Amino acid sequence: MLNSPSNPSGAAYSAEDYRPLLDVLLKHPHVWLLVDDMYEHIVYDGFKFVTPAALEPALKNRTLTVNGVSKAYAMTGWRIGYAGGPRDLIKAMAVVQSQATSCPSSISQAASVAALNGPQDFLKERTASFQRRRDLVVTALNTIDGLDCRTPEGAFYTFSGCAGMLGKTTPGGKRIETDADFCAYLLDDAHVAVVPGSAFGLSPFFRISYATSEAELREALERIVKACAALR
Ligand SMILES: Cc1ncc(COP(=O)(O)O)c(C=O)c1O
Repeated sequence: MLNSPSNPSGAAYSAEDYRPLLDVLLKHPHVWLLVDDMYEHIVYDGFKFVTPAALEPALKNRTLTVNGVSKAYAMTGWRIGYAGGPRDLIKAMAVVQSQATSCPSSISQAASVAALNGPQDFLKERTASFQRRRDLVVTALNTIDGLDCRTPEGAFYTFSGCAGMLGKTTPGGKRIETDADFCAYLLDDAHVAVVPGSAFGLSPFFRISYATSEAELREALERIVKACAALR
């Protein structure tokens, strides 16, 4: 299962990053790939998005590429995803889906076709605005002693290390032992909602989604700075 740009880290694989991985997969024909390209349109600093089925056609007959309208077109509530892959697999998926959920509403399907076939020029402007927010968040987090945030290539998340916060004590007298403790402290004391790395299988980290207004982000970051400064 490959996901680039990634939720939660925002990290993305370039063609050069993918190459050695695809070479290994070529040697193991029993392995199939599920490739989640959900954030393909949200990449920064001129990063060139690539996808395995296009990079390595020899893997196409065992690659399922999935995508959706939730992120690029801000159509989360329409509940439309789509997939491309080997005909037999897609057919089998349709059999299962038609019995399990019937089908997505035809109105959502028509709206998604309009999004995918309509003008795409807004994507550039929207990505530029996401990039400003990314820079705002990454810069602010890295000014805080004890946090360490890499600059993501895409998506709208930062995934910051918070090892420096472990072992500290909150003003209320609670000791922060884990990233989940740190996130609970931010929620309880600063009223900022973030997600612990443990929820994604990697600690001690925490994810921030910056898919919100710059004003809200500034407020949230100020609160995080204050909350971190209050730890002893
Ligand atoms: C990587 C990735 N794939 C797929 C999805 C699913 O989006 P939806 O259920 O809105 O289609 C998400 C949503 O957060 C995501 O981050």
